[in-house]
Amino acid sequence: MNSDIRNILIREDEIKLKVAEVAGRITEDYTGRKLVLVGILKGSIVFLADLMRNIDLPLSVDFMSVSAYGIGASTPGDVKIIKDLDMPVEGKDVIIVEDILDSGTTLSYIMDLMVVKKTASIRLCALLDKPGRRRVPITPDYSCFTIPDEFVVGYGLDYSERYRNLPYIGVLSREVYEK
Ligand code: IMP
Ligand code: MG
Repeated sequence: MNSDIRNILIREDEIKLKVAEVAGRITEDYTGRKLVLVGILKGSIVFLADLMRNIDLPLSVDFMSVSAYGIGASTPGDVKIIKDLDMPVEGKDVIIVEDILDSGTTLSYIMDLMVVKKTASIRLCALLDKPGRRRVPITPDYSCFTIPDEFVVGYGLDYSERYRNLPYIGVLSREVYEK
């Protein structure tokens, strides 16, 4: 185990099973529809790569990158688009794929933006849900794991751009961000 990790919260095999299960539900729900998975960069990439390979439907993939002004935006107005979608999503059935739903600020902004883009439908799929920190009332339509209020990394999630490549989800040691 990486020495900066205090403990492993979710093992690689647990993630694999759960991602396949959620992908199975999406496959059932979206049969016959025009599915577009929109990954939010960069945290969603590992989850998205596994999720899409377990969805047994024709689909397309696009990406969006947003940033919060400063550390932890507090209102959706503090969020800015760094990279918008490449393709139009009007009339499409969009699922936003995100690493973690924390305060909900980023995702509520993105969901509002999709309304303007006139999608046929819009749902949210989050790998992790941290409901203890929610500031905006938003719940994921699909989520793999509900976690306590701890800072986690791995499987796409970073601290200062590091640890995204860890195959498991682990709690970062306090010493790493307190030094
Ligand atoms: P929200 O707008 O507060 O919901 O922020 C969501 C974003 O904050 C996520 O996409 C992550 O990039 C980041 N984030 C929130 N909690 C964690 C965590 O525990 N580990 C790593 N990144 C996190
Ligand atoms: Mg991040």
